[in-house]
Amino acid sequence: MEIIQPSDQNDNCIIEMKNITKVFPGTKALDRASLKLRKGEVHALVGENGAGKSTLMNILTGQFFMDEGKIFMGGEPLRLSSPEEALKKNIVLVPQELNLVPEASVAENIFLGNEIVRSGMIDSKATRNKAKEILKILNVEIDVTQPVKKLSAAYQQLVSIARALAYTPKVLILDEPTSVLTNVEAKNLFQSMKLLKQQGTAMVFITHHLDEVMEQADRVTIMKDGKLVEEVPISEITKDKMITKMAGKKVQKLQRVKRNVSDEIFYEAKHLSRAGEFEDISFNIRKGEILGVSGLVGAGRTEIFKCVFGITQSEPGAHIYIEGKEVEINSPISAITHGMGYVSEERRHDGITPGMSVMENLVLPSYGQMLTHGLINYKKAASVTNQYIKKMSIKTASRETLIKNLSGGNQQKVIVARWISKGVKMLILDEPTRGIDVNAKDEIHNLIRQLADQGVAVVVISSEMDEVLALADRIMVIHRGKVSGFIDDVDMTTQEDVLKVAFQ
Ligand SMILES: Nc1ncnc2c1ncn2[C@@H]1O[C@H](COP(=O)(O)OP(=O)(O)OP(=O)(O)O)[C@@H](O)[C@H]1O
Ligand SMILES: [Mg+2]
Repeated sequence: MEIIQPSDQNDNCIIEMKNITKVFPGTKALDRASLKLRKGEVHALVGENGAGKSTLMNILTGQFFMDEGKIFMGGEPLRLSSPEEALKKNIVLVPQELNLVPEASVAENIFLGNEIVRSGMIDSKATRNKAKEILKILNVEIDVTQPVKKLSAAYQQLVSIARALAYTPKVLILDEPTSVLTNVEAKNLFQSMKLLKQQGTAMVFITHHLDEVMEQADRVTIMKDGKLVEEVPISEITKDKMITKMAGKKVQKLQRVKRNVSDEIFYEAKHLSRAGEFEDISFNIRKGEILGVSGLVGAGRTEIFKCVFGITQSEPGAHIYIEGKEVEINSPISAITHGMGYVSEERRHDGITPGMSVMENLVLPSYGQMLTHGLINYKKAASVTNQYIKKMSIKTASRETLIKNLSGGNQQKVIVARWISKGVKMLILDEPTRGIDVNAKDEIHNLIRQLADQGVAVVVISSEMDEVLALADRIMVIHRGKVSGFIDDVDMTTQEDVLKVAFQ
């Protein structure tokens, strides 16, 4: 057996993971991967979807056991048999997928499993006060007594980070913390990370936003196919080099494509309103058009399109027209009947069915089309699934693999594939490339364009301005629940222009 020793400890090293191997049925998730963390550093961990980033961090926090390899903390072997043991060592993970208790309050969630107890009872007042204090570090001011289910995905993410901070981490792992945050909130998070750095906290920062890596990280570890590719100080690498190393080859960056859109309006909404969410929203979308929807988190973008898809109902006075005819859309079923599809921003809650296979998840809304004499046509389902696994480079052991065993980005690809393959007339995509690596993002953009080229009206809600500017034929800007303007000439538009429209 191989004897693994810690390396020299004179560089402030707090954690060393050496030659870690982890095999899942059908997949070698980690193949002698290594990671070295130093006190007071922000250490970015990057790699394509399925490279093994989350698995490595799940091992460091006692969620998974490794098959081979060693972990050292301060030069001493670290053996973890449970997540609780990692927490006792102040190794704390903010997981990629939110795992808050929706019904419990913000304060309760922050101290979940780590309750403040006085004379054998939970001290609610101290819990509330402490929760507020921690949220203040993150520059978040919210009512800590409200249930977290009332919060947007962005605020839930911030609560999840606050929960980690409540454990006073020595090692803090942030698995894609910014994927649901907009610039403002991300900036606040980076500010807090600077504070933690000064206190000596070592941080692992997993992200697909390589600009953030360049700006925030001190070092970066690049992984590919479960292996360590390289570890370097940020000053010694560029963004392009990182992309090449992640992919293992040179990649061509896709350019914005100028598209011709028909004049035929597919969908039109007039005067959509919901008290406290949005007011008097009117817009249309043409066949084959990609309508980008921009705005800050909390602007009401998600809420507007939940209503468009019939998940919620507008107040009286609204009118909806499809191909010029007035229609009523009062449930997702009626939206689907009218040819609409919807990819929600919350894949965990309204997206995947975790206990089902990749194939079942992919063909879910197309069941009707897959039936032959009332039975699911397995051959057809399998062929569509194989086709999309290939087209979107979905990393999965097989089409029968349970979707919950796919990496976060690969789950997202399945959900997007589900609607792209269904043959809808209008598709609403809320943050479609959240958590998707830079190369796969281009592939998905291409598929979205192909879909629009076939005449589908596509709505892309995205907090990533780059994405909206690259994809959209027209941009609808939302600010505080109202349409603050439309941008027709996207080719000539910059991020600043979009912000100007938002605040005008
Ligand atoms: N519980 C599991 N069972 C089976 N396979 C798994 C499990 N968890 C992860 N895997 C597999 O291990 C590989 C690495 O996954 P991991 O989640 O670590 O990737 P990642 O780098 O975090 O990707 P992403 O950027 O998409 O989040 C993937 O092929 C995934 O399918
Ligand atoms: Mg991951």
